[in-house]
This record gives sequence, structure tokens and C-alpha cells, in this order.
Amino acid sequence: MVLAGKRILLIISGGIAAYKSLDLIRRLRERGATVRPIMTSGAQQFITPLAVGALAADYVFTDLFSRQDEQDVGHIRLARDCDLVLIAPATADLLAKMANGLADDLASTVLLATDRPVLAAPAMNPKMWANPATKRNIATLRGDGIRFVGPTSGEMAESKEAGTGRMAEPLEIVAAVEMRLDDGARPLAGRKAVVTSGPTYEPIDPVRYIANRSSGRQGHAIASALAALGADVTLVSGPVSIPDPMGVHVVHVERAEEMRDAVLCALPADIAVMVAAVADWRVASAADQKIKKHPGESIPTLALTENPDILKTVGHHTQRPKLVIGFAAETQDVEANAKAKLERKGADMIIANDVSPATGIMGGTRNSVKLIRHDGVEQWPDLEKDEVAARLATVIAEQFKPE
Ligand code: C5P
Repeated sequence: MVLAGKRILLIISGGIAAYKSLDLIRRLRERGATVRPIMTSGAQQFITPLAVGALAADYVFTDLFSRQDEQDVGHIRLARDCDLVLIAPATADLLAKMANGLADDLASTVLLATDRPVLAAPAMNPKMWANPATKRNIATLRGDGIRFVGPTSGEMAESKEAGTGRMAEPLEIVAAVEMRLDDGARPLAGRKAVVTSGPTYEPIDPVRYIANRSSGRQGHAIASALAALGADVTLVSGPVSIPDPMGVHVVHVERAEEMRDAVLCALPADIAVMVAAVADWRVASAADQKIKKHPGESIPTLALTENPDILKTVGHHTQRPKLVIGFAAETQDVEANAKAKLERKGADMIIANDVSPATGIMGGTRNSVKLIRHDGVEQWPDLEKDEVAARLATVIAEQFKPE
């Protein structure tokens, strides 16, 4: 009963989908929430404050400059005296105002003044949703911590056009509201993470390749731990024999270049954790056919060329995630090497471990690491890789705590 006793400030803006907001109010209230409505002037062209007020059993706020309302409640209190601000439908216009911090009516002013979580259910024509301006605004709002439910695809109410732009159905919105209110246990909810894991296979010819002993256990565990805290995780995995983690979007790749492309495809993201043991070099020109052994002929030599450094690419990218974390598997001078790597790769943190054969870390289930930041080093105890992952996910969540 997440919704019982919760106070939802419902902003209805002007789109035909506003008719669904009437049902939404009922669904929220039957789950025990109280709903306080704000309507824009556009919304009042589609549905009436009388209908909204009757279903919400509350006063409907419409006017920024109403002397009576300002005395009774005031827009600042309206913005704060709630557990969640829900915008349904959220028009392209209102989203654009929000993305730019405009406040020229009650709804946009409340949105600028609120310190509560905000969930928006966009609804607009598919061309408007696909417009680069709307895309920019949505990306900005996501970065600001605004969350979205929908839009979905299907036929538009007002025309025969089909595409993405329909407002999510009331029950989907209710589910999203419940999830948003439950975010305390999911501190990374709404954050996007990209994680690399496993080795890469660099082909020599169609049957042979250069690889390494990485099992993918640490990277997969980190992807899982981030998902458990609510992050939307893309795991880009090299060839491994362990199963895909649950609740994570997995992209399987083989070569370093494929891994780089998949990682860049997952941007923009808030978090990048590059755990994969990417081959530093690949064969300069892999043979199309199996290289044959001919008696008496000289032994072939492999000419190598450098692979892209994925961590460094991400660390210096124009869409650099807020938090970029790398790993440093070293067999000597672990700390000094990791510190140098932090600078060189443009990372915020490096998890350094000693992978000398005697430690049994590479391919094993335990790990003993140091967390290296620009301002200090933390030695972690000897832990299972799952525990290292959970601990790292907590460190990451700390960076995204609301101020
Ligand atoms: O330079 P080194 O391989 O020691 O750096 C390790 C870190 O850089 C790891 O986080 C690894 O995932 C990442 N890396 C990468 N692309 C490479 C080489 C390393 O992302 N080509």
C-alpha cells in the first residue's frame, strides 16, 4: 500500500489526453492517495475544473495571481506540501518550460519551486515527441532528476496518425507513481549506468583468437548491484560462461571495437563502470581464412595494432557520464599505477587490484581491492566479488544523493 496516505500534486496540462486524468484521479484515490489538482489554462479547454475537483474532492488550483489562493495556500506551499508532483498529461510546451526554468503560470511556477520528486507522463503528437527540441528538453529534464512514464505508441486520439506520443494509461501511471514513491530503497532509480565486463576476443583468423582469463564475475556482479539499487543498467559483455544478470539489458560482443561501439551507443548515461579486461592490442589484419601450416615454410608472425581504450574514450567524451569508474588489474606497484591511470583515463575512481597469479583473483570469486579517488585511497577487506559490487554500488549511490 505504497499510496496510502500519500499526497499527490497532480498538474494537468493542455492536451486531449487530459480526459484520462479524470480516471487517473480515481485510481490514485482508490489506493488511498490524496490528489490536489492544478490545471493549466490549456487543460481547461479540454476538461473542466468542476469535473476534476469533483473527482479529487479537493479545490482545483488554476491561477498564479489569485489573491485568495495565495493567501490560503500559496504557490510555494503548494509546491512543497506533497510527496510527489505528477504531471499528466505533460505537454511538449510544459516540458519545454520546465527544461528552461520558465515560470509564467501556476503549473510552471510550482514546478520550478518544488523540491519534491517529479514524475511526468508526456502526451503529444508523435512528430512533436520526435522533434529534436523535445528530445533535448527530455534529456535535460532526465539529467535534472525528472522521471517519465510513457509516452506509448499507438493511434492518436485526434488524428489517424500513429506513433509514439500517447499518454501512458492511468494504471501504468499509478504503477510508476508507486515506484517513484518507493525510491528510498532504490537510490539509483532513474539513473542510467553502462558497465563493461569479461574479456574481449581478438580474432587472428576465423578459428583462432587472442583472449585473457577474465571471467566477467566482477563486472556482472556490479551490473547486478547497480540494478538492485534501481539503476537502468546496460551491461556490455565480452564472451563469458556465466549467465546474464537479471533485470539488466545485456549486449554481447566479442572484439574491443564492438565493445566500444556498444558502450558509446549506451550514452548518455549517468554512470560508467568499465570492468572488462579489454585486449590492449588486436591483430592488425585478421586473416579471412584459417592460417594453414605448410611444412618447411616460416612460422607466421602476428603484427598487432592498438585497440581503442574504452575507458579513456568515455572519460573524455562530450557525453561523459557524471561518474566514470575504471579498474586497474596490476601485478606490481598497484597504487602508483592506478593513480596514474585515474588521471590518464579521465576517471573519477579506480578500483585497483593485484592480479599476480598467487592472489587467484583473476577468474576467482574473491577480490581484494583499493578504491582510489583523486583525494584518497581506501583499502577494502578481502571480499567476495558480489560484496565488492554491493559496496561499490553504495559508493556510487552516495554520489547521486539528493542535496
Ligand atoms: O590500461 P589498463 O588496461 O590497465 O586499464 C584498465 C581499465 O581500463 C579498466 O577499467 C578497463 O576496463 C579499461 N580499459 C578499456 N579499454 C581498453 C583497455 C582498458 O576500457 N582498451
